[in-house]
Amino acid sequence: MIVNYKVNNLSYKATFCHNKESPDIYKALSKLYCDKKMLLIIDKKLNSKFTKFLFKDLKKCGLKVTLLKVDGSKVNKNRKFLFKIIDKLIEMKFSKKSVLLSCGGGVVGDVSALASSLYLRGLIYFHIPTTMTAIVDSCLGGKTGINYKNIINSVGNYYHSQNVFISKNIIELIPKREFLAGIPEIIKSGFLNNNKILKLLLNNKKKCISRNYDFLSKLIKLTLITKIKFFQNDVFEETKRLNLNFGHTFAHAIEMSLKDKNTDLIRHGEAVGIGMLCEIFYSEGESNKFKFLKKILELYNLPTNLFYFKKLKRSKILERDIYSNIFLDKKKIGKFPRIIRLLNIGNSKVVEMKNNKKIRETISKVIFKV
Ligand SMILES: NC(=O)c1ccc[n+]([C@@H]2O[C@H](COP(=O)([O-])OP(=O)(O)OC[C@H]3O[C@@H](n4cnc5c(N)ncnc54)[C@H](O)[C@@H]3O)[C@@H](O)[C@H]2O)c1
Repeated sequence: MIVNYKVNNLSYKATFCHNKESPDIYKALSKLYCDKKMLLIIDKKLNSKFTKFLFKDLKKCGLKVTLLKVDGSKVNKNRKFLFKIIDKLIEMKFSKKSVLLSCGGGVVGDVSALASSLYLRGLIYFHIPTTMTAIVDSCLGGKTGINYKNIINSVGNYYHSQNVFISKNIIELIPKREFLAGIPEIIKSGFLNNNKILKLLLNNKKKCISRNYDFLSKLIKLTLITKIKFFQNDVFEETKRLNLNFGHTFAHAIEMSLKDKNTDLIRHGEAVGIGMLCEIFYSEGESNKFKFLKKILELYNLPTNLFYFKKLKRSKILERDIYSNIFLDKKKIGKFPRIIRLLNIGNSKVVEMKNNKKIRETISKVIFKV
């Protein structure tokens, strides 16, 4: 199964690979002119079963592979990681026709894509996403980035992976937490575009958590198609693509506020789940939509507030940090941070948050559930 899409008349694809230990990367490469040199960036935490097969396959088909093992996770999404990759490309004398293949979660993907876009102003870039967040969201759309000065993705650009490989083997090996943490991004797609996605999640918990591939590939495909629909004609996020940020104004504020306290306490997807609750609450309080979203999050044992994380205590400082980080929203064009208001399933719009009292109430009543 292949999902094809075009951006500015250039073709890209996501290839679902289900019948081999590792994806047929070389088949995709045989259709391109490349100099057979590859930098393979792999997240250290990936199951070695998969990486061994992948490495063997790539060498077998005549690619000269340089391996770089890296540590995913948000604390490493920084310039040190970025320049580690660029230094390696320089050291190995890679050309514009060399290939960078990254194999990891959203962090490895975002930083590798940024390095690919910068080195010689762009080389061939492929990606194998290895967390559910990366599979259903970050692998497509071309957003790259690093966190800098404690601002999420403050340095980045747009550079698309020519081919993304969604591997059945990887899906089976994803640790439970990295698997579940991607579900809020799937829910997001359901709310923004396709009620069918929500019904699938609600009615098929067993199939989902047991990693039933037929079920999951359908769910992943629907989610990716939703994402493509929103970014394809608005890559630079001026209009329609903004809607994909549903939940993200509050999510990023939470993530930035927790950064100093406990490095990787909350996953991005987990924060998006809480963030979506916040954005609905800000607009309409504990409405039916709010309750419906909470029900799906709880069904998958996902956090609906910060007390889910036992290590965390409510504090005035943390509340103040979250509040002030909301104003770092990258979608802001004037004085006010912006969120996505969900009018109905499949119908949303971008609005400014002008009511500071309501923002504080949302933090207190949703994030700290008083
Ligand atoms: N570019 C985009 O459009 C986009 C969209 C959503 C999120 N993001 C970014 O993605 C990042 C979050 O992605 P994430 O949740 O995948 O985080 P991540 O990449 O940090 O992965 C989470 C943890 O899982 C580990 N890991 C990854 N794959 C594994 C595997 N198969 N087996 C065992 N361990 C594994 C990582 O080392 C890390 O510790 C954030 O930086 C966010 O900004 C980008």
